[in-house]
Amino acid sequence: MGKPLKSVFKKEHRDDVSNPSANPVFSTVAEMFLSRRRFLQMGAVAGAAASFPFLLKPENALAAVSQPSALSKAVSLGFTSIPVSTDDTVRVPEGYIARPFYRWGDATGIKGNLPAFKFDASNTTDEQAAQAGMHHDGMAWFSLPQGEQDPAHGLLAMNHEYIDNGMLFTDGTANWSLEKARKGQNAMGVSIIEVKKSGSDWEVVRPSGFARRITVNTPMQLTGPARQQALMKTAADPQGEQVLGTMQNCANGYTPWGTYLTCEENWSDIFVKKSERNALEKRYGISDSDESYRWSEVDDRFNVDKTPNEPNRFGWVVEIDPYNPNSTPRKHTALGRFKHEGAAVTLAADKRVVTYMGDDQKFEYIYKFVSDNNYNPADREANMQLLSAGTLYVARFNDDGSGEWLPLVFGQNGLDKSKGFDNQGDLLIKTRLAADAVGATKMDRPEWIAVDPHNSGSVYCTLTNNSDRGKEGKAPVDAANPRANNTFGHIMHWHEEGGDPAALRFKWDILVLAGRTDTADEKAKGSMKGAEFGSPDGLSFDHQGVLWIQTDVSSSTINKKAYEGMGNNQMVATIPGTNEYRRFLTGPRGCEITGIAFTPDNRTLFINIQHPGEGGDDITDPANPRAVSNWPDNNPQGRPRASTVVITRADGGIIGS
Ligand code: FEO
Ligand code: CA
Ligand code: CA
Ligand code: CA
Repeated sequence: MGKPLKSVFKKEHRDDVSNPSANPVFSTVAEMFLSRRRFLQMGAVAGAAASFPFLLKPENALAAVSQPSALSKAVSLGFTSIPVSTDDTVRVPEGYIARPFYRWGDATGIKGNLPAFKFDASNTTDEQAAQAGMHHDGMAWFSLPQGEQDPAHGLLAMNHEYIDNGMLFTDGTANWSLEKARKGQNAMGVSIIEVKKSGSDWEVVRPSGFARRITVNTPMQLTGPARQQALMKTAADPQGEQVLGTMQNCANGYTPWGTYLTCEENWSDIFVKKSERNALEKRYGISDSDESYRWSEVDDRFNVDKTPNEPNRFGWVVEIDPYNPNSTPRKHTALGRFKHEGAAVTLAADKRVVTYMGDDQKFEYIYKFVSDNNYNPADREANMQLLSAGTLYVARFNDDGSGEWLPLVFGQNGLDKSKGFDNQGDLLIKTRLAADAVGATKMDRPEWIAVDPHNSGSVYCTLTNNSDRGKEGKAPVDAANPRANNTFGHIMHWHEEGGDPAALRFKWDILVLAGRTDTADEKAKGSMKGAEFGSPDGLSFDHQGVLWIQTDVSSSTINKKAYEGMGNNQMVATIPGTNEYRRFLTGPRGCEITGIAFTPDNRTLFINIQHPGEGGDDITDPANPRAVSNWPDNNPQGRPRASTVVITRADGGIIGS
């Protein structure tokens, strides 16, 4: 292919294959049809109980820790599905109101430091550190004060996943410098903002003692088995205990003790190594060039030839206490190192903490972590240690609809020195290699995972797409990934044995094959009734058990090619088991819909619009930033800006039903 893909299409490159392992695959065409029959039955039978006999049994209904709420389970959707849209705006159903709120460059609310956004992108590096970052992604709600369920006053913690240097600077990457790289570093990471309902509307509280920006240079502590490992030590941190910053923060999680989890996804795009790359670097996708971020040219930390262990310090889940702006974020190495999409937290029957996580790249895996110790609602300090010690598992989806969680533990299943692992900490730095060795199932790009708040043993995962499935030399179709050249993606469902999230066995099925409803072509056909969609990514339950799905069709494909006529990226809702999907929201041009947080009363919904105006190229032409979109400001001298959107009902009612 000549020129490295990364220099042309970063978004395609980062999802490229870096898993050459020859794991067993299970399927035959007949087995693929077995799975298909199962979900067709599911769609044909009205009601969840008939199609998922394990659902709705009271003994399986644990307390809804992942979405604490007293609201009862919804039995039907209560809004009218809206049409697809190619307009440069956010559309929601009649009776709903959607308003942009905390756009890239808006002041975060840090006391004495409230810089206004400059529409020509001329804000300085220091100003950017006190403003919303770019490319908002995962997000969570935390009521104020801590421990309360106030639906009208709280904190939003949110990720700023990546940057577009063509939008971030008036002159793009001209006159490239460390100062410019630092502005990019300040535009990534996490925002914590205080928000309050004022009448029927919402405002960002400025200034606020909680307001905080966490960036690529914020000091963090390492916890767990990989802390102090040889591969974690650098000249700047000879003990291997402290890391500067977090980056490429994609989806998220939140814990029952009121902390935010931010997940490091495409961090390997930032690092560059010109000399021969070793097997570990190749397995994690470190490449020899980067024309998107260009930090490695001016900041040696990202030049792997000069700082060889720095990449090992990324690819983790980071825990942040949003209630304490002086707290030090912690990277929890016990949860494994990969391209973390999100971290869905729930509690086992015995109150151990269970965290489900996807590794979003073609042919990568689904993981779960089970803590050693139990959650104690009366001891927040002890809970803060729960993610530092436990067991990491990786999923195998058997072709008969059963599945297993395989432990990634040094000394078990052949994971020892003979396979290149020195100890548990070393193994966790090499998580992908350990998962290869135990025979995990290669999936079609695992994105978000959601636990049903009314059935905590019931879990769902978006598999966004995989254009390489079934290609020559790549993994063939299997029962869990049943479509070759999977253009539209699908959503997996599994139910843990006995309804216990800590179980080591499960049963799985496919909730829905995404795709079009207007085609007879099996490869493109969606199995849903109602609103069609493709490339599912964001996935979350609300407090009533409605499942919300957000799409991320890549910006080079939106409303084109196989997606022609399907419009801009969107958000749909379903109640699992009904197979009915309704379209709730359509976004502006060139954006992805992501990030989702409901207030405890389910009457306010916050979502994120990421990268409006992205045209499919790696870097937007700085001379023409409005070529695709000028949302949300429509300022003739402005540029599109990622933004949180606050959504309410005009009558103040519950969202979705
Ligand atoms: Fe950042 Fe896999 O989405
Ligand atoms: Ca995503
Ligand atoms: Ca995605
Ligand atoms: Ca995207």
